[in-house]
Amino acid sequence: MTSIPLSGKVALVTGAGRGIGKQIALRLAAAGASIVVHFSGSEAGAAATVDEIVAAGGEAIRVRADISKRSEVEQLFGAIDQHFDRLDIVVNSAGVSGGGSLADLDEEQLEWMLGVNLRGPLYIAAEAASRLRDGGRIINLSSSLGEFPMAGAGIYSATKVAIKSFTESWAKELGRRGVTVNTVIPGATAPGMMDRAPQETRAFFEQASPFGRIGTASEVAAVVAFLASPEASWVSGAHILANGAAST
Ligand SMILES: NC(=O)c1ccc[n+]([C@@H]2O[C@H](COP(=O)([O-])OP(=O)(O)OC[C@H]3O[C@@H](n4cnc5c(N)ncnc54)[C@H](OP(=O)(O)O)[C@@H]3O)[C@@H](O)[C@H]2O)c1
Repeated sequence: MTSIPLSGKVALVTGAGRGIGKQIALRLAAAGASIVVHFSGSEAGAAATVDEIVAAGGEAIRVRADISKRSEVEQLFGAIDQHFDRLDIVVNSAGVSGGGSLADLDEEQLEWMLGVNLRGPLYIAAEAASRLRDGGRIINLSSSLGEFPMAGAGIYSATKVAIKSFTESWAKELGRRGVTVNTVIPGATAPGMMDRAPQETRAFFEQASPFGRIGTASEVAAVVAFLASPEASWVSGAHILANGAAST
């Protein structure tokens, strides 16, 4: 028997035109949810995600927004309101990484990372809070670099560990309505940010796990799908590490 635990539900997945977000969108769609495929620059990728969902018999729309801008996030939710009469699941997957030495601090890069990684999920949750049905879900993507910061990646790590505070605060604020809020903390993953990493960086992360490899976006999406499911109704304010026991 095929399991469709999210049948009738509507899920917004940010950054679903590529990488981990795309796999999350496909996974939630396979579980029966209608998907809002959010993208910023990857219009062709978002269209491909929608096509894949529709070809498999699901329902999806694509909507563009730069999540670091509140007005664009408001427009994103305006588009959701036009297409769907409900919202059940929000996955904050969109995120950016970058780095550099302290001495080379780049204010533009700092603003960009704070904008996409912190203001973005906050604007999304602020719009979603009043729309989410009772029993809804918010799932935030953090990073193992928040748990194990590395030299030169301090800003990224700081934004990603701050997400955990959002999770715990929002879980307390929304819990009375049965809305759960959780964090998934991926380690190095492909498809996704690791696609653009130099071979030596990838090799470093491969050997950091006893599995001798990095994770796949589908493996991260599976954890998100569990948290989105009715089975996870008592899991809230939690942070789940999905990094193959890597020590980085
Ligand atoms: N892959 C990894 O190794 C890894 C490890 C730990 C944590 N994570 C976390 O997992 C999440 C997904 O990462 P990923 O690997 O899928 O990254 P990715 O492949 O680099 O994709 C980044 C995503 O963020 C979106 N995005 C970037 N700037 C945006 C903006 N201003 N407004 C809206 N969306 C924007 C992109 O959308 P467009 O392409 O449409 O612009 C894209 O979908 C991130 O939060 C990341 O921090 C990833």
